[in-house]
Amino acid sequence: MTEHHIDIAYRRYAIAELPAEERALVEQARQATATSYSPYSRFQVGAALRLADGRVFTGSNQENAAYPTGMCAERTAFFAAQATAPDVPPVAIAIAAQTAGRFTPRPVTPCGQCRQALLEAETRYRRPIRVLLAGADDVYAISSMGALLPLNFDGSELER
Ligand code: THU
Repeated sequence: MTEHHIDIAYRRYAIAELPAEERALVEQARQATATSYSPYSRFQVGAALRLADGRVFTGSNQENAAYPTGMCAERTAFFAAQATAPDVPPVAIAIAAQTAGRFTPRPVTPCGQCRQALLEAETRYRRPIRVLLAGADDVYAISSMGALLPLNFDGSELER
């Protein structure tokens, strides 16, 4: 038996410490929470995805009376970007959430399906996507979506 460990590094920034471009992306994710349709959870999530050419696509969670039919903010933004600009790699995503009229104190983290969905773009374009998880006062920055999904399935096993 051998035991192995995987480390995940994240950097914690005060919002004011972020470079201007990243601060702007966080602000766009925050603004996108306003377009959330979340009458069931009352948890309004916003995402802003920046592409390599500078374009930003935003998304918010869209819920449904048949709960599993709903969609997270991250995939809403990502699929909109891919459907509009299929040849342009995403390079960064910021995520924010509000509940009861306030941004969550703790940075919001993407669900497993969103991690997997965005991992596909890292594999497809061979470029990491920087992840900015925004809380009310600080932001966790992670260098790639793959780092948030250790031992992930990226499809390379299908190529045999
Ligand atoms: N949600 C997102 O949109 N993104 C996340 O990162 C976490 C969860 C949504 C799904 C659902 O509409 C609500 O938040 C509660 O889970």
